[in-house]
Amino acid sequence: MKRVLRNKKILIGVSGGIAAYKIPEIVRTLQKNGAECSVILTENGARFVSKYTLDILTEGKVYIDMFSGGLPHIKLAEENDLLAIIPATYNVIGKIASGIADDLLTTIAAAFKKGKILFPSMNTSMLENPVFEKNVQYLKSIGYEIVEPDEGELACGKSGKGRLPDIEKIIFHITRCLSDNIFKNKKVLITAGATQENIDPVRVITNNSSGKMGIEIANAFALLGADVLLLMGSHSVYIPGYLNVKEFKNSEELYSILMENVNDFDILVMAAAVSDFKPEYSSKKIKREKMLNLKLSPTIDILKEISKLSKKPFIVGFCVEDEENIVEEGVRKMKEKGCNIMVANTIETIGSEKTKGYILLDKNENYFEMTKEELAWHLTSLIWQLLH
Ligand SMILES: Cc1cc2nc3c(=O)[nH]c(=O)nc-3n(C[C@H](O)[C@H](O)[C@H](O)COP(=O)(O)O)c2cc1C
Repeated sequence: MKRVLRNKKILIGVSGGIAAYKIPEIVRTLQKNGAECSVILTENGARFVSKYTLDILTEGKVYIDMFSGGLPHIKLAEENDLLAIIPATYNVIGKIASGIADDLLTTIAAAFKKGKILFPSMNTSMLENPVFEKNVQYLKSIGYEIVEPDEGELACGKSGKGRLPDIEKIIFHITRCLSDNIFKNKKVLITAGATQENIDPVRVITNNSSGKMGIEIANAFALLGADVLLLMGSHSVYIPGYLNVKEFKNSEELYSILMENVNDFDILVMAAAVSDFKPEYSSKKIKREKMLNLKLSPTIDILKEISKLSKKPFIVGFCVEDEENIVEEGVRKMKEKGCNIMVANTIETIGSEKTKGYILLDKNENYFEMTKEELAWHLTSLIWQLLH
């Protein structure tokens, strides 16, 4: 998030909903990611969260009164990059959609020309009111970004739709609004993690892939506006809750999910560490013996099969090779599997925070040594250049 949020000025509007108590934490998280925050409270918003706390967190950049001197609505609208209203009440959404500007927050919404994002949060009974739905549709049609509330326990004690999304999801949507959205309307399919090939009902053959590379790529594409589906195998790192994830277990399952879905996608990134072999499966748990010989057969070469399809996405392959012949092997695999880009990593990359190797293209090769996050962002800009 940092690379997008750094030095961005975010104006947070807080209206009178119970979820306003989460605002100090949201402000702190945005600040930790390099953003500068100012806050506007409606009079009712100030009943739910302390102005004093927010004053301390923002070094005095908290506004309530429209008539405290000067033209605060014009000044704040001009000097900020994004207006995020969290929580956005039924009332404030209705007022903005009707062109009412009777307090500082709604007047700034009227004057604000850059990005505007609303996080509605209210009781399900208010959310289901057709007036609310009409207002939301109208605001979307004139360019407001509106994030659907989550389902779960509400302040009234009942369960239903209307909860403010968790902070991670809020920060994701704010960051996405502030990014240049170069992959908006593009569908990206990413595979990550390790396959697990069953030996018997309790044992598997797997590998040391952490899943980090694919998750970082999914994150970068999602923040750049793409519609991302992450196919996730076994992994040892955290997957952000806002990513759309489908799990797979072994190479056969991954192959069938890919064949079913790949046609719908513009870009495919194969960062999963897929086993080259699978054992002959024993339906009974194998007993301890002095010596056990496993019979292994090759798994399907998934990328090779995808390269035979008549309609193919833009393909980025990953391979892990010994350092001595990394370029030759990478180029051979790129040609054999019909990839547009092949990323050839060294063996030490597996399970590590950092990565090094070569990005191989049709006519050139580029050495890299960086974190997986940096490589993910580098790849997104390279893919964008190659597609334009
Ligand atoms: C305890 C309490 C909790 C409330 N929570 C919400 C809420 O989560 N969402 C909402 O839209 N309205 C909620 N309301 C109603 C709003 O506070 C009310 O509509 C108010 O006029 C909103 O003012 P504002 O939009 O100017 O901030 C709540 C009211 C009370 C008393």
